[in-house]
Amino acid sequence: MAAELPLDPYAASRWLGYIGLFGIIGAPVFRALIHRVTRDARLDPDTGARLGAACRRAGLASAVILVLANLARLWFQGRSALDPGEAMSLAAIEPWFEGPGSWGLMWTTQLGAAVVALVGLIVARRRLAAGWSLAMLGAAAAALAMPLTGHAVESRLGAPAGVVLQGLHLLAGGVWLGTLFVLLTATFAATRGRPDERERAAAAVVHAYSPLALTGAGIAVALGLVLAWIMLGSLPLLWTTSYGIALLCKLALLSGVAGLGAWNWRRVRPALGSAPGARRLRFSATAELVIGALLLGVTAVLVALPSPRL
Ligand code: HEM
Repeated sequence: MAAELPLDPYAASRWLGYIGLFGIIGAPVFRALIHRVTRDARLDPDTGARLGAACRRAGLASAVILVLANLARLWFQGRSALDPGEAMSLAAIEPWFEGPGSWGLMWTTQLGAAVVALVGLIVARRRLAAGWSLAMLGAAAAALAMPLTGHAVESRLGAPAGVVLQGLHLLAGGVWLGTLFVLLTATFAATRGRPDERERAAAAVVHAYSPLALTGAGIAVALGLVLAWIMLGSLPLLWTTSYGIALLCKLALLSGVAGLGAWNWRRVRPALGSAPGARRLRFSATAELVIGALLLGVTAVLVALPSPRL
């Protein structure tokens, strides 16, 4: 049963890629909420502008992380064919790009989508609508491209269905946790030094975000269960294979993220609007994001383990 755990730099760069991807999904989603939130909660228009700028910055940082993570993955993929101590060269990378369905071609698609999102976020500084549309397109493409180098292409449902299913799973997870990340960083950056405005803004954005979080989390969990069934197909394989045990670790972390999400929804959200609501939100939402990042780390290992059923 014991496959060696792939705790290597390649898995670390994939983890970083997930974090970047979640950020570029969250940025356009949060941006779509800002106008309504500023109007409905009668926030200072300056706060609305600052929220937009901080949201773009969070997206931009995430896109840079995703591009760098992709470049790191190419580097480590090339290194995997070399002997220890052998110098890295173009010749080491070339074989990965041979053939129509090669790893290199899929990787190029992933990098291309990340670059589209990055360009969109840069353009959004001057040409708001065009830039954000491009960023949204890049984020969706990056989510759908991510499974191209994993188990999804060998799915028993066929490669297209496997990739779409897993891409939607990622997209939904990104709407949940990626948006929370952008919401938290943008709201606190945009209201620095203005405690009253911070309380009002935090209450308004969290109220607007909650239904999206519930939908994203619900879809991610439902599709996750379908994927788990496809990859495992039998309950005992959950505790008798390395793949199953990694999945159990993921589920344990998921219960932590979901538990904190429920706490934020039921306890923190109703108390927002006056001090110390925003401070409590910062603490509990950061904890939710830290456990979410660990969940993504376990997933980066999971996708590199042999699936018992494929
Ligand atoms: C009941 C809950 C969940 C289950 C059973 C589940 C299961 C799975 C499975 C079986 C895979 C495929 C791994 C492979 O390629 O071998 C996967 C992929 C993935 N899951 Fe989940 N998942 C769940 C929830 C979540 C949540 C809530 C998130 C994030 C918020 C998430 C993030 C991911 C990511 C990032 C991938 C990798 C996609 C890729 O690289 O192609 N999952 N999940």
